[in-house]
Amino acid sequence: MYRSRTCGELRIENLNESIVLAGWVQKARKMGGMIFVDLRDRYGVTQLVFNQEVNAELCDKAAKIGREWVIQIKGTVMERSNKNKNIPTGDIEINVAELNVLNAAETPPFTIEEDTDGGDDLRMKYRYLDLRRGNVRANLELRHKMAFETRRYLDEHRFLEVETPVLIGSTPEGARDFVVPSRMNPGQFYALPQSPQTLKQLLMVAGFDRYFQIVKCFRDEDLRADRQPEFTQIDCEMSFIEQEDILQMFEGLTKHLFKVIKGLDLSDFPRMTYADAMKYYGSDKPDIRFEMKFVELKGLTTGKNFAVFDDSEYVGAICAKGCADYTRKQLDALTDFVKRPQIGAKGLVYVKYESDGSLKSSVDKFYSQEDLKLWAERCNAQPGDLILIICGATEKAQKQLSELRLEMGSQLGLRDKTKYCCLWVVDFPLLEEDEELGRFFAKHHPFTSPKPEDISLLDSNPGTVRANAYDLVINGVEVGGGSIRIYDSELQKKMFGVLGFTEEKAQAQFGFLMNAFKYGAPPHGGIAFGLDRLVSIFAGLDSIRDCIAFPKNNSGRDVMLDAPSTIEQEQLDELNLIVK
Ligand code: AMO
Repeated sequence: MYRSRTCGELRIENLNESIVLAGWVQKARKMGGMIFVDLRDRYGVTQLVFNQEVNAELCDKAAKIGREWVIQIKGTVMERSNKNKNIPTGDIEINVAELNVLNAAETPPFTIEEDTDGGDDLRMKYRYLDLRRGNVRANLELRHKMAFETRRYLDEHRFLEVETPVLIGSTPEGARDFVVPSRMNPGQFYALPQSPQTLKQLLMVAGFDRYFQIVKCFRDEDLRADRQPEFTQIDCEMSFIEQEDILQMFEGLTKHLFKVIKGLDLSDFPRMTYADAMKYYGSDKPDIRFEMKFVELKGLTTGKNFAVFDDSEYVGAICAKGCADYTRKQLDALTDFVKRPQIGAKGLVYVKYESDGSLKSSVDKFYSQEDLKLWAERCNAQPGDLILIICGATEKAQKQLSELRLEMGSQLGLRDKTKYCCLWVVDFPLLEEDEELGRFFAKHHPFTSPKPEDISLLDSNPGTVRANAYDLVINGVEVGGGSIRIYDSELQKKMFGVLGFTEEKAQAQFGFLMNAFKYGAPPHGGIAFGLDRLVSIFAGLDSIRDCIAFPKNNSGRDVMLDAPSTIEQEQLDELNLIVK
């Protein structure tokens, strides 16, 4: 028996019990004739005591052990004289009678404690050591629990977990595919799924009715804090349902997770159309933990000889409560913020609603107190508030104002990570126009159904067609997205036509799906949640990397495995590949 107990479970109730523990040495310190060792395992840390006076030989042996050595001890649970209120085992310590070194260890490259001295790169290189840290491990424990509870909920609702293949053909989700050369089919490639979208639809044709899978997806796209090249979806599909059924079922899943994991009872999620999300928040994933909605000022700003506003399609404002005392320096910093290339605004106009009721703006030359008063009224501003204004082409200016809104939300402490605001964004546009290429792309994917009342617009004004598509947004993060699918092969054909696919290309790429639809496709739809994003919101993390056991860095590299890497010429030859 290596151990009778874990390092996290002993309490004062266990006093005088003989126990065996095994684990890693987190810390060892000598104090007079005593040696104290913090022994760590997955469950916690327990203090061990070696006493020179009681057993000098054992104490000498203990003096030799170093950080991260793997040891086993036998001993007795004692009450600590110097209690540590910060850890659950802090009332006790183990009086050690026997010490066995199971494995010596080299000194680790960084300290393995909550507050480590290791930088990002170093910790990623030695991720297995990083994972020994309690806070990192806690994220993975949370992930396990969330996946487990997801399975429980979906199983209770008759969903069937079905595995779909990883070596498939290209899936059209809009990102680039990762491809795998086929040795047995020279010159041909598999693609790794960007999602099991088409396969889950085929399972509906097969009559599976309710499918789910917690599944790895692969997308070769630029990486950000909330994007990894391989990530995990809770992927779901249902038959004989309408959009409302999906929203109810997955609002239920989300509420279940908040309830069992966080003990929170969430009220029903509000819904917002895509059009309103853009109009009031400049984003299809608004953070509604705080208000600060956009206010359009165009009508009030025109005709006063301020060319910048006059020449702009859009003039929009946000009202930052209680910020009229922002200094010149703070306002300059905000201007610099919106002018950063990533945001790209030309400038920022402000109006301070002073506490004495007067209005002071950066455009006083052009606008009178009366003008500014009208702006303030429309913004619902009170004395003490600051109005911030951005102008330009509508879509661009709204995106810029959205960034500014989030920044102000952060500055004002309105983006509390322990507050959770869920939102359904519905009625997404079906298509997105690429003006440069002069063609339309599917906003979600080509299988998404247009709203029945908009189908007639597919020919006349495709850009205005709305889809039966929805996203779940939590605290400004797109956590999930899905749609009701087209299940009629004629409508699917038409959709491919609008997307500029020739009949041959559509047949070559999606023939399998269109053919399947000829054999009795039920009405169906689904959704996929990003598990990594969901976990990181629950854990309050800034990056999804922290809830992934072995993540890639921002260049898509696994620095621990040193992947991707070159391969042997022999392997290349076998695969018929020539590397330039
Ligand atoms: P979508 O492309 O919206 O839909 O993806 C669903 C969810 O997956 C998560 N996600 C990601 N998470 C981490 N890294 C990434 N690179 C990444 N890309 C996406 C997001 C997103 O909301 N087949 C459809 C779903 C459907 O229609 O049923 C799909 O994949 O949280």
